[in-house]
Amino acid sequence: MKIVVVGGGSTYTPELVDGMARLRDVLPVDELVLVDPDSHRLDLVGGFSHRILAAHGHPANLRTETSLDRSLEGADAVLIQLRVGGQEARSGDESWPLECGCVGQETTGAGGLAKALRTVPVVLDIADQVRRRAPQAWIVDFTNPVGIVTRALLEAGHRAVGLCNVAIGFQRRFARLLGVRPDQVALDHVGLNHLTWERAAYVDGTDRLPELLRTNAAELAHEIELPEELLHTLGVVPSYYLRYYYAHDEVVRELLDAPTRAARVSALETELLQMYADPGLTEKPALLMERGGAYYSEAAVDLIAALLGQQTQSSRQVVNLRNDGTLPFLPDHAVIEVPALVGHDGVRPTPIAEVDPVFAGLVSAVTAYEHLALDAALHGGRARVFKALLAHPWSGRLTAPTD
Ligand code: G6P
Ligand code: MN
Repeated sequence: MKIVVVGGGSTYTPELVDGMARLRDVLPVDELVLVDPDSHRLDLVGGFSHRILAAHGHPANLRTETSLDRSLEGADAVLIQLRVGGQEARSGDESWPLECGCVGQETTGAGGLAKALRTVPVVLDIADQVRRRAPQAWIVDFTNPVGIVTRALLEAGHRAVGLCNVAIGFQRRFARLLGVRPDQVALDHVGLNHLTWERAAYVDGTDRLPELLRTNAAELAHEIELPEELLHTLGVVPSYYLRYYYAHDEVVRELLDAPTRAARVSALETELLQMYADPGLTEKPALLMERGGAYYSEAAVDLIAALLGQQTQSSRQVVNLRNDGTLPFLPDHAVIEVPALVGHDGVRPTPIAEVDPVFAGLVSAVTAYEHLALDAALHGGRARVFKALLAHPWSGRLTAPTD
């Protein structure tokens, strides 16, 4: 099996290589190509990735490439994990919306829209090259904003599925609290990428979320920085991205007072790259856990294994895919994030219990925003960008606040 990672020079890549090395029985990779235009990072990340594979005695042939053109032939899966403009552009996304009293965040709101505008054309271009060189390959998109980028890929007819680590993070967290294995926990995870709620956590067919809310609500609420009361009132665990909606103005005040996440990540990246340069390092450093993508490797390995691996049965995994009636209040072509059955024939959503208006309202509004954001990213023009901004629940205001 040949896997190509576009954005392979990312400091996240060792997480992925580590997952592939550890989960070798699930995913027999023969060839791994890391592609990145930044040859300096590619050398450091590639060298360290070699050592991870060697330490596990993994036989895969690992190659680094600065040209996508020379990488794709014969690929079975192409993972896209890039950030157009790097942390510098992200810093802008996280800063200028604050001037208008809006949360600055790189995946949604005004900052996320800016990221979508500069990212969608780049990813579509890469996907076109995949279609020409490796038409059978699956595209796994981890590039944010995942909902909009996946929708762009699907509407252009690509074999794509979007991936995020929020669901696998909750699955791991709940499993630890319940004292069971993560694969025993089946989440009722519903919504859009970075706009989701955990409504149930089934273990052997029994929903254990009510029990978790009785015993661990304070802890969980603390982790997502929302009031415990809210978890009890809603009977769900919102993802930490919901804080930007439910505590919008409080977050704006905090962000105005703190360095950006981009600044923190830049510092982390410098430190990580220094570590990766050490020829004695053969295991991913603990510092990598300070990046937001924890368990990303496991989610990616599980997903590719289910799409391409040896097992004959479909497996249940949370992914981003076309709605196609799953959430009846959304258009078919919307991209939603829900549990799906993943197998050799692709991804199929599992039936979803009715969604309460308290969640469906926000999901509908943000779906409309994503539709307009994609329109702006594909066709450009100030009016389209303006409409997308206006439709987003955080930024739909015509004047900046005065104090
Ligand atoms: C989470 C999200 C990802 C996002 C990441 C940012 O993992 O699910 O979509 O890219 O956080 O992490 P960072 O370390 O760059 O802030
Ligand atoms: Mn994500």
